[in-house]
Amino acid sequence: MARIISVANHKGGVGKTTCAVNLAWEFSRKKRLLLIDADPQGNSTTHLGLIKHEQPISLLDVLTEKHSVVEAITPIDSNLSIITAKPSLHYVHLDHHRVLEQAIRSVVDDYDIILIDCAPSMSVLTINCFFVSNYLITPIENGFLALEGLNDLLMTIQDINNNYAASLELLTIVPNMVDWRNRLTHEIFAQLKRHFPGQLAKTSIPRNIRLAEAPSHGVPIAVYDPLCAGALAFEQLAKELLKKLSLLKQKEKA
Ligand SMILES: Nc1ncnc2c1ncn2[C@@H]1O[C@H](COP(=O)(O)OP(=O)(O)OP(=O)(O)O)[C@@H](O)[C@H]1O
Ligand SMILES: [Mg+2]
Repeated sequence: MARIISVANHKGGVGKTTCAVNLAWEFSRKKRLLLIDADPQGNSTTHLGLIKHEQPISLLDVLTEKHSVVEAITPIDSNLSIITAKPSLHYVHLDHHRVLEQAIRSVVDDYDIILIDCAPSMSVLTINCFFVSNYLITPIENGFLALEGLNDLLMTIQDINNNYAASLELLTIVPNMVDWRNRLTHEIFAQLKRHFPGQLAKTSIPRNIRLAEAPSHGVPIAVYDPLCAGALAFEQLAKELLKKLSLLKQKEKA
């Protein structure tokens, strides 16, 4: 059964899609991977080279039961597939928090990891993503206000676990767009280490122009420029997270 992981932060533009696409690619070197684009912006869809308006079946059709989840899965690479999103997903009406869980139930055994790229809002769709997930990966853009956002997110996780009897856990916080020449970066890292010692990723993602260029070429960074600093950081981060997931699995079994 797949581990289901939402890449989420209600703050916009912090690197959720960049992390979702590039971690999905890296994980898929070793694991069977499904990426779900759960953001009406459809940025993961575009980043993986698909034209969102031309996709005949997207997440919306699965959530509204027009098509089965299997019909909505588009293969990208041997071990990587995606369920696409398009702007009409904005108008989806979900009357409870288990619609996504029910919609994807029949394929969870076909994958090792299902990653979900969440929208930058706490909509019913995002709550559905959280509800079906075991873990959250939360990218933050390095800055003082990121800390405030993180506390809000932790409270949301707690609310979801309490209100919906869910067991969502923060897997990791990924500092993104990091520039070590900036003194504020060092201060923020010191605070993150103090407040989130077990959750702060050891690997951070540098600000790297190649990461910003890759989406327009419709490929992950490892394909666009495999030796750039951004690609190497994602390779390292994926290794770190796979190790963490495997340790957590061992603990569960024990
Ligand atoms: N480490 C980085 N270095 C340079 N540019 C980056 C980096 N990470 C992300 N970007 C760029 O910053 C922008 C925002 O990133 P991204 O789309 O991944 O954020 P997001 O959190 O998914 O945004 P949204 O909240 O709109 O979904 C994009 O143009 C992306 O290419
Ligand atoms: Mg995004």
